[in-house]
Amino acid sequence: MIRMGDASAGRRRCAEARLALRGASRLAVPLALLSSCAPDRAASPTRTTDVLAVEPYVDLDPDPRVVEVTMVAAVGDVEIVPGTLTAAWGYRDGSRPDAPLRVPGPLLEANEGDLVRVHFRNELPWSTTVHWHGPRIPNAMDGSPSTQGHVVPGGAFDYEFVVRDVGTFWYHPHLLADVELERGLFGPLVVRGGSTIDVAADRILVLDDVKLGEGGAFDATVSEDDVVYGRRGTTLLVNGKPGAFAPAAAGSRERWRFINAANGRPFELALPGHRFRVIGWDGGLLPAPYEAETLPIAPGERYEVLVDLEGDVGSAVTLLDVSPGRPGLPPSEPAGLLTFRFDARASAPPLPLPAGPLRPIEPLRVSDETPVRKVTLSGPQVATTGLEFRLNGQRWPFSAPVTAALGATEVWLVENLTALDEPFHLHGVFFQVLKRGAAPETRLGWKDTAVVPAGGTLRFAVTYGEPGMWMFHSHVLEHAERGMMGDLMVE
Ligand code: C2O
Ligand code: CU
Repeated sequence: MIRMGDASAGRRRCAEARLALRGASRLAVPLALLSSCAPDRAASPTRTTDVLAVEPYVDLDPDPRVVEVTMVAAVGDVEIVPGTLTAAWGYRDGSRPDAPLRVPGPLLEANEGDLVRVHFRNELPWSTTVHWHGPRIPNAMDGSPSTQGHVVPGGAFDYEFVVRDVGTFWYHPHLLADVELERGLFGPLVVRGGSTIDVAADRILVLDDVKLGEGGAFDATVSEDDVVYGRRGTTLLVNGKPGAFAPAAAGSRERWRFINAANGRPFELALPGHRFRVIGWDGGLLPAPYEAETLPIAPGERYEVLVDLEGDVGSAVTLLDVSPGRPGLPPSEPAGLLTFRFDARASAPPLPLPAGPLRPIEPLRVSDETPVRKVTLSGPQVATTGLEFRLNGQRWPFSAPVTAALGATEVWLVENLTALDEPFHLHGVFFQVLKRGAAPETRLGWKDTAVVPAGGTLRFAVTYGEPGMWMFHSHVLEHAERGMMGDLMVE
């Protein structure tokens, strides 16, 4: 609900709201206070199309249980800043010769149990792979450098797997991922199924930030701070667009699926005057929804929320990033990500959520006897090649894999010795967080990426369900690609 008004009064209000928000009881501050702090452009929309829509790949197989697509990684121009072309790397649908390069890449969409067949072609000047972040699939299809060779320039690879997990996932390269993702190689993967929830719109919102230089040119420089704190862009993007506008119906309920595809930036989302009803994490729906005033989302994580949009027709509401920003800097200003304009009113209120659990989840059984696997994350340290990061004191790929027994349940205790919150990701399996820092996790749900607080620990329980070599690493890609990765052999 953006109100126009005297600019200096507006700035004062914003400053007060921000101060309150930074105070001890951040969560108690009504975000309505921030409602007038959206960027000025929110008040003067210039575009009318729904730039948020993520186009799906064309499914080439008429069999409803088979999704067959052609995916090409290539170099091209994308329009990030309206009216300007930025040279990027991205994915396009290879089944249509005229399909443009997209950042984020087109939506790969399937139903639970579908066979997914991806004919992948590399038209980049660099080698790459495609990793499917989240869904449990056979190890040979994982797309990590520990499971497959490089797909060289001009090369191809067919990925084929059955999707058994319903949820919001994503795909991205797993070679020089810090560089390749930053240039635009990532896309959403959504597997549908499970509880039906009545919504007016089901949106995929991919969060990212990009460093842009003069005239919207892509800025490839990597500063020492970028390496130490994870690369931070100058421009915040949702589905590849800064400050986009989308129409919405007042009084309607929408489902938003957030994916943080940024190299190193954690977001904290807020929608002034609204609360998020969180229904899903990385591994799909939760048993029970919970409400949140703000929603932190670290690189690699996904959250699914329901939002009951309130406002007058003609007004607007801006999704904000209220993250305090990088350690070592003064807290950053809330930043507008995306504005919804109410161009209509819903004709009927949303149907109630299904009675009972959205989805049953059994807590993994752990006790004092459950073996505990310890992992430490550390760095940076200065090496002849630049700054390095370590996992268990070693720098991947110069580290030996650790092993675990198929079907075994273990507790992981991840200790973060760095000065930055590290989103810790494990391939090929979902886990249940037991404790983050000193706080026991009270909610039950499946994760594949979870934050280990700076100087603190993360404890999670996991049962290994799929054999093979699975990677685990920080999803701050500057850290991962400089050594903060490991391999787990499950056999
Ligand atoms: Cu999102 Cu190992 O990756
Ligand atoms: Cu992954």
